[in-house]
Amino acid sequence: MAQDRKTLPTQGRSWESISAQMSALKEKDVDWRNGRAAVYVFNAGEDVLRVARDAYALFQTENGLGPLAFPSLKSMEDEVIQMGLDLLHAPDEACGHMTSGGTESILLAVKTCRDQARALRPEIERPNIVVPVSAHPAFDKACHYFGLEIRRTPLREDRRANPEAMAEAIDADTLMLVGSAPCFPYGLIDPMEELSDLALRTGLWLHVDACVGAYFLPFARMNGVDVPPFDFELPGVSSLSGDLHKYGYASKGASTLYHRSPEQRSFQIFASDAWPAGAMSTPTIAGTRPGGAIASAWAVLEYLGESGYRRLARQVCEAREALTEGIQAIDGLETYGEPNLSIMLFGGAEVDPYALYGRMLRRGWFSGLVTEPRAIHLMLAPSHAEVAPAYLSDLAECVREVTSAAGPGETRRVRYN
Ligand SMILES: Cc1ncc(COP(=O)(O)O)c(C=O)c1O
Repeated sequence: MAQDRKTLPTQGRSWESISAQMSALKEKDVDWRNGRAAVYVFNAGEDVLRVARDAYALFQTENGLGPLAFPSLKSMEDEVIQMGLDLLHAPDEACGHMTSGGTESILLAVKTCRDQARALRPEIERPNIVVPVSAHPAFDKACHYFGLEIRRTPLREDRRANPEAMAEAIDADTLMLVGSAPCFPYGLIDPMEELSDLALRTGLWLHVDACVGAYFLPFARMNGVDVPPFDFELPGVSSLSGDLHKYGYASKGASTLYHRSPEQRSFQIFASDAWPAGAMSTPTIAGTRPGGAIASAWAVLEYLGESGYRRLARQVCEAREALTEGIQAIDGLETYGEPNLSIMLFGGAEVDPYALYGRMLRRGWFSGLVTEPRAIHLMLAPSHAEVAPAYLSDLAECVREVTSAAGPGETRRVRYN
């Protein structure tokens, strides 16, 4: 037996002692409840957390794999999809499914596109997809899993997708084009109208990765933020992914994938009767699906409604504005581009952003990093509006520490786990 390996306790123990240990374990985690995480967590306040958690608990044992056994989950999922289709200007015949997260939604979109091409364009032997370099690595994962080539194309100077570069990368074996609304690294929406035109001209499938934006952009737009068309309003858009566990504020494990038509969606479904327990047909990659994630997403949508999401989108934008202004006022720092949504980045020619990141991390502030340009990346939640002053004051002190520290700057490889 491996010496350091944890073994199953021979006897169980009390929930009190277990929960005490779990609370102690949490003490080393980033303090997201107090706004210290600007990645991974989307804190919309204690009331929303409570609704998401209680709804999850009510359906924690139910299984989304069994709609006949659990019509409750089926009706909640159907309503989540209908609300999403409505927000995203989808035509009447459009449809969708809930999945476990953005990565599963993207994997499924690529798989569905590949399977449609296998049926309609069987002459293609080495299929590829064309994505801007800023697209999420879930597309690389999808291509790796499903045997496609991924072609990453350079961005325009404004760090948005370059439709001309994408057009040049297309050949007879291309299946799909991708645009993000917005992309993770820069928080910018790709020129979706131009990508839609390109998709219509070439007859290619256009997937919109709105994992970050699907449940944020419609409300930001209602609040007066300049949000260009990015969804099914554009005739070239074939499918769209949108995460409920990001700016939908649901418990983790909730995303959506939408299709323009049921014909297109039919290539998503996997069915088999190759075993002695009857036919099994599943629309998503998972078999068993947590009822809690479906219930949590439905309950938070019902709890917040349009006015709640608008209020939270406003708070996020106010946090971004306060942080942008405060950061620009700190000597040596600058913000990059003009993101007007929930993601922003900053750095400085004279202040090593990675060293600054290390200092902020020591003070408990956790966020992302970008490599091009070298910058600190913030993915903001409503709760950040409140902590912006404390963040800025620590940042100003850390800048002083970094600029006065002797020796070479710290370097850090950007990793997300
Ligand atoms: C633009 C974008 N797409 C896809 C994903 C993947 O989502 P998930 O982590 O839920 O799989 C993310 C995650 O941050 C993202 O920002």
